[in-house]
Amino acid sequence: MIQVAPSLLSADFLNLAKDIEMINRSEADWLHYDVMDGSFVPNISFGFPVLSAVMQQLQKPLDAHFMVVHPERWIKECAKLGVRMFTVPNLHRTIQEIHEAGMMAGVALNPATPISVLEDVICDIDMVLIMTVNPGFGGQSFIASMVDKVARLKAMITAKGSKAWIECDGGVNLTTGKQLADAGVDILVAGSFVFKNANPQQAIIDMKAL
Ligand code: DX5
Ligand code: ZN
Repeated sequence: MIQVAPSLLSADFLNLAKDIEMINRSEADWLHYDVMDGSFVPNISFGFPVLSAVMQQLQKPLDAHFMVVHPERWIKECAKLGVRMFTVPNLHRTIQEIHEAGMMAGVALNPATPISVLEDVICDIDMVLIMTVNPGFGGQSFIASMVDKVARLKAMITAKGSKAWIECDGGVNLTTGKQLADAGVDILVAGSFVFKNANPQQAIIDMKAL
């Protein structure tokens, strides 16, 4: 079954507690938390005071998506707060540091980055995040050519005997999610589709069944 990770970026910031409670009661597998620094991407989202408050109420594992220039600076802080998955935009030695801090390690690829950059690390990481929009904002349109990228990544993962999950993030709804499910995705991140939905809990259930 597909795992669903609603993205807090599309939640109601004046009522975060209400939206987190909805996530707690839902079938969601994760809460996706986008950290942006205004340098790596042209937007600033939220940081640690907000994360710390979210962690006090959240009953689901947290999937932290770092779109910042120096993600390695925040590994210890996140481990201390109880973050489960820590995803970074580039490789370095960060993967090892994330594992040493006791978290799962993800690597995010922008739409223009080829999957070949992962060939030598695919067995060392827990997840590959394929960005299906250019990172920075919720509510953008899905880039259709990413479906084939997911299929090729799935083939690489199988060929290398890796256990890495594939996560897709950006413009995911039931139509694009179905294409990704057929291509081999494991986790779908959905911001607007869940939080702007008249029935967010049903939206999550429908997505899990794709
Ligand atoms: C964008 C973020 C996404 C965003 C997705 O850079 O990484 O997680 O919240 O939002 P939707 O699902 O609305 O495209
Ligand atoms: Zn994200």
